Amino acid sequence: MVLGRAGGQPGLIRHYRHCGSAVQTGAMTAPEPAFAPASSEYRDLVDHALMTTRGVRARLDFDRDVDDQILFDCIDVAEQAPTGGNNGSRRWMVIRDQATKDRMAELYLSAGVEWVIKKAEELEGTGHQNEQLMLGAKRLGENIQRTPALVIPTILGRHDGSGRPGLFDSVIQSAWSFMVALRARGLGTVWTTMFLNEAPAVKELLDLPDDVTIISLFPVAYTLGVDFKATARRYPARDITYFDRWGRTLADGRSEPRAMADGPGQMVEVDVKASPSVVWPLVSDPNTPAEFSEEYQGGTWDDPDAERGVGSTFTGHNRHPRVGEWSTTSTVVEWEPLKAFAWSVGGGEGAAATWRFTCEKVPGGTRLRFHCRLGPGRSGLTPAIEAMPEREADIIAGRQDEHRANMERTLEGIKAKAEAVAAQTPRGDSGFPVKRQRTAE
Ligand SMILES: Cc1cc2nc3c(=O)[nH]c(=O)nc-3n(C[C@H](O)[C@H](O)[C@H](O)COP(=O)(O)O)c2cc1C
Repeated sequence: MVLGRAGGQPGLIRHYRHCGSAVQTGAMTAPEPAFAPASSEYRDLVDHALMTTRGVRARLDFDRDVDDQILFDCIDVAEQAPTGGNNGSRRWMVIRDQATKDRMAELYLSAGVEWVIKKAEELEGTGHQNEQLMLGAKRLGENIQRTPALVIPTILGRHDGSGRPGLFDSVIQSAWSFMVALRARGLGTVWTTMFLNEAPAVKELLDLPDDVTIISLFPVAYTLGVDFKATARRYPARDITYFDRWGRTLADGRSEPRAMADGPGQMVEVDVKASPSVVWPLVSDPNTPAEFSEEYQGGTWDDPDAERGVGSTFTGHNRHPRVGEWSTTSTVVEWEPLKAFAWSVGGGEGAAATWRFTCEKVPGGTRLRFHCRLGPGRSGLTPAIEAMPEREADIIAGRQDEHRANMERTLEGIKAKAEAVAAQTPRGDSGFPVKRQRTAE
């Protein structure tokens, strides 16, 4: 009995493996690429595919059919993803039947898309950063029954919260590979989970066994054009990659052991239940950290009447048990109200350090991040490093720990203050409208 057929896509070659008397499709052989792995052409192609596989909603072509074989091919690609215990526990549902799609569309609407449509209408024409996303979600919500195929990756088993590998951990990466494989063929989709609010009804509709977990719903179609771009709405790797201890960053990073030339830094972050409009006045005041830090004593703007912006300066005062007291002049190097405030101590190439607050609006409040980059100029560390160059890495690590303690105190203090202010605002505890929050994510 033949359980599968050879791939319809050029370059896809299947093995047929004999198991007893049955003939089964075995794992797909990877197509021979035009460029050798590790060549720059191969790297660029793979990186491009990974970086431009976007959530597609507004540019799904509802009028062009998709062949089943393309879905099989993409699932074969996706099945090569890592899986716990090397067990094949993923199962894929493909919905083609129009009546079933219509019912899925009803469930999608009641799962939250009605709210998305209303929100999209509110945002239309406002230029809000989520306007396009919400308009795309509205278009998808209103047309999901027209999608050529609805694909649902599932995994055998129920997530029990134990954190053991083999369940979500064995399917998410495969679902993502499926998205990239679609992209490679001129198709697209978007990872949707909102319909999981109606998961019991979806399971009943599709005859899914109780002990199967649905991961997402992929509306699959050809894309209208293929010119997708990487998004700027992600952190740079150097802002979110920590070396050896949580929060330790490298601005340049060349040496082992670590040296000042690597631009070592320290990051701390906290989620605040208050909107950026509540948090920003606190972080943009150079006196705020002084309320909580054991080292920084306070600062005053050198020209208190001038409008704040890049180039503004303030004088700060510090105290340290081993060093004594000292003052510095800092220059603002980044000033984006409600978002980012950074200042360089000393300024330019000679900066002793650069400090940065960023506020990111997240559901329910603000993600507040505070970063300090040591150097590259002379600082209090320099004499110690000059006296004991072989201990440079330890001296840096010690300073990172000191900073981390003060920065954590500062963020906890700002969080408490901001949340107290937000609690008194009539709009609700977060500064956001009080109605139930539902987003397209
Ligand atoms: C776990 C998860 C759940 C998501 N749920 C939805 C959803 O229900 N509806 C939707 O339209 N998009 C959903 N998305 C897609 C994100 O909104 C999308 O990735 C985001 O808009 C960023 O777009 P990009 O992927 O092109 O960068 C989800 C994404 C993830 C990772």
